[in-house]
Amino acid sequence: MFETLPQPGLDGIIALMQAFAADPRMGKIDLGVGVYRDEAGRTPVMQAVKQAESHIVATQESKTYLSLAGDPAYLDAMEGLLLGGAVPQARVAAVGTPGGTTAVRQIAELIRRARADATIWISAQTWPNHAPLIAAAGVKSRPYRYQDASSGMLDRDGMFADLAQATADDVVLLHGCCHNPTGIDLSVQDWSDMGAVLDRTGAVPFIDMAYQGFGEGLNADAGGLRHLAARLPEVLVAASCSKNFGLYRERVGLAMAIVPEPQKPRLAGALASLNRQNFAFPPDHGGRVVSTILNDPALKHIWQSELDSMRARVAENRRALADALRSETGTNRFDVIARQQGMFSLLPVTAEQVESLRADHGIYMLSDGRTNMAGLNGQTVPVVAHAIAQVIA
Ligand code: LMR
Repeated sequence: MFETLPQPGLDGIIALMQAFAADPRMGKIDLGVGVYRDEAGRTPVMQAVKQAESHIVATQESKTYLSLAGDPAYLDAMEGLLLGGAVPQARVAAVGTPGGTTAVRQIAELIRRARADATIWISAQTWPNHAPLIAAAGVKSRPYRYQDASSGMLDRDGMFADLAQATADDVVLLHGCCHNPTGIDLSVQDWSDMGAVLDRTGAVPFIDMAYQGFGEGLNADAGGLRHLAARLPEVLVAASCSKNFGLYRERVGLAMAIVPEPQKPRLAGALASLNRQNFAFPPDHGGRVVSTILNDPALKHIWQSELDSMRARVAENRRALADALRSETGTNRFDVIARQQGMFSLLPVTAEQVESLRADHGIYMLSDGRTNMAGLNGQTVPVVAHAIAQVIA
């Protein structure tokens, strides 16, 4: 049966993780996969998570099935975190999913069920898994301009010119914050203009929120989503707790549809039935950790302080790398790194230069120059800056 089964290619992120793990060199530096690392290079379990887990282990009496949507306490807590009361609960249908990845996939399938001919517009630079997930769900995608290659900033005019062509059959995928891979986020004005474009075209926004809390803060990072949810009739959301709760392998995600009140039962039913078809019940443990933290003021305070220090460390790494690259290269070409936010920036390097960084210096980043700023520390910043200056010279 399987003689002709095609061998799937690995995506760049997973291939890089494997190559890094297999590299025997001592001083190798991993700036690839998007996980937070502390100054010592570890990805520790957060203190708030540890405490919530102890509480769950001590008090949980059953692990029997819940509903297809998952634990209502998790869904309510996430709704609060994401929407902050911007829209009434009566407009919100949500289900738990195994990670943000599955949330993206489920929303794409929901779109196909609703409008078989829909196109999802995705930013020209985006998470490498977006297009494959959308294609696997049987939906078309089409790029819109995002980063201006010469300035490294948002190509605002290009983006809005492309999105003006979207129609009411289309969906526009936007990164809620900490754009992956460019680190370029929309300003308050950009979100407001985006709302106007979506209002005019009738295209439905689909917000991928994978890094809430890593940009400017929990509320500021959700500002764009909340603005669109309050302004427009329909908004789709895929959220992840991998990074902001450090729950990566627990797979904690959420698929949400914000719709006019009479449609909520239809959307809740559709999302639950997609869960049933793909995996039935979402994983529970990670979501229970999240709701335990968010519903306990003392634990929530600990979690927020931990997240604040993670965000501050990544921002400091950005400043340090931009400074080091300015002095190493004698140019201000890399200054923009300090103005971008979240884990990633797209460095202006060629695929050959990235390969030379890997082969000659043991520095791993994605072939398009995507660099995980959380993977740097005080010792590696000068090493990385020096190596980049060498390979681009
Ligand atoms: C990344 O972009 O590196 C992370 O979101 C991990 C993943 O699943 O790709």
